[in-house]
Amino acid sequence: MSAPRYFPTTGHLLICQNSNCKARGSDLLYRAVWNALEQDKLAYYKAGGSLRLTESGCLGGCKSGPVMTCYRTRDGQMEEAWYAAVDFPLARQVAQAIHDEAELPGERRYGP
Ligand code: FES
Repeated sequence: MSAPRYFPTTGHLLICQNSNCKARGSDLLYRAVWNALEQDKLAYYKAGGSLRLTESGCLGGCKSGPVMTCYRTRDGQMEEAWYAAVDFPLARQVAQAIHDEAELPGERRYGP
């Protein structure tokens, strides 16, 4: 058996798809972000792309959804960021910042 192909990435976005976030549109948000990563060639499987996007179970911020978290390595350190009340423009901004290895947006960010 051969090993699966490994795709190097700059970061990983997770968008909650549990019931409270779905009631606030996280399923539409997920599809819109997926389409944008595809179209703008930011998805890891596109030439030049570097991002992974995954549906997530509850991320613990149910009253403030849609909740999104992201992880990346920057300057040799693991960085995580959590976002509440995420809409498409914010998610797209976060995705671009990860891809560009830039500062993550502070808007609606919580946690570490
Ligand atoms: S349902 Fe999305 S954070 Fe709990």
